[in-house]
Amino acid sequence: MGVDRPVAVVTGATGGIGRFIALGLARAGYHLVLICRDRVRAEATRAWIADTTPHSSIDLRIADLSLLSATIEIGGDIAASYSRIALLINNAGVFEAKPVTTAEGFDRVLAVNLLSPFALTRALLPSLIAHAHSRIVNVGSSTSDRARIDPDDLVLGDRWTMMRAYSQSKLALMMITFALAKRLAGTGVTANVAHPGMVATGLVRTGGIIGLAWGCLAAISLTEERGADTPLHAALAPELATVSGAYFKNRGSVLPNRQALNPPLLERVWMATERLVASPESAGQS
Ligand SMILES: NC(=O)c1ccc[n+]([C@@H]2O[C@H](COP(=O)([O-])OP(=O)(O)OC[C@H]3O[C@@H](n4cnc5c(N)ncnc54)[C@H](OP(=O)(O)O)[C@@H]3O)[C@@H](O)[C@H]2O)c1
Repeated sequence: MGVDRPVAVVTGATGGIGRFIALGLARAGYHLVLICRDRVRAEATRAWIADTTPHSSIDLRIADLSLLSATIEIGGDIAASYSRIALLINNAGVFEAKPVTTAEGFDRVLAVNLLSPFALTRALLPSLIAHAHSRIVNVGSSTSDRARIDPDDLVLGDRWTMMRAYSQSKLALMMITFALAKRLAGTGVTANVAHPGMVATGLVRTGGIIGLAWGCLAAISLTEERGADTPLHAALAPELATVSGAYFKNRGSVLPNRQALNPPLLERVWMATERLVASPESAGQS
């Protein structure tokens, strides 16, 4: 598809932080390819961006990113449409109160937060490499700072709790990002992780104590617009053009969980993720 501006692919732009990431990129002059799961919310996002950014240029693609088959298909379609991509922001994420198993047999938190970004990135990699300089920004979470990971046991099974599933998925996302950064050295493509801060969004969709606590935290949380600031900084700041394999909070590079500084462990998490993405039938094994 011939567009006269750099192309940015963004997931999870129909709500929360992602909507403001997309707005910021539209304002910065990018042609946006937004992967959304709901057509109505996708159109509403396009109209919302167009309202404040009259010359915005947006291509909406519809896919449920909890399904690897849908992710791989949409990634292939986008790569076929755009031979050069300047920016990929894997922002879509879920935090579930109870384990939900996808039609492909994966825990939905693992599928959306880890496996889908892995598969989408891989599908778009030729187009990212074809662009002279390009960036991959994966939206992580500071919950990864205290998480523990066993690469032989990414599928939690009976050990599933909402915090363990979420924080492990975000640590794994960070670790595959760092492993990817190493693989991409010399290609002109960077790969980094950005934590948005604690932001009052619809991420926690549950009642009870957890929903109540999340509601109370809203008072001291960042706005969605502020939450988009660090991911946008990682995506746009000229001084970060060649920075790769970093973890950003409040626009600054910070030390990650020590497990993410262990190269053999990074490789094991990469290979475990690759195996899961290649063989959905292993989803239920713990
Ligand atoms: N909020 C925080 O305090 C916080 C802190 C640290 C990290 N984060 C991370 O920031 C990112 C954005 O979260 P948020 O707080 O903005 O959450 P949010 O308001 O719930 O937005 C999540 C976005 O992801 C999309 N999404 C979820 N499941 C999807 C699926 N199966 N297929 C396609 N799209 C899907 C949602 O689409 P729909 O509109 O269709 O639901 C929505 O656009 C996530 O990666 C999250 O883990 C958030």
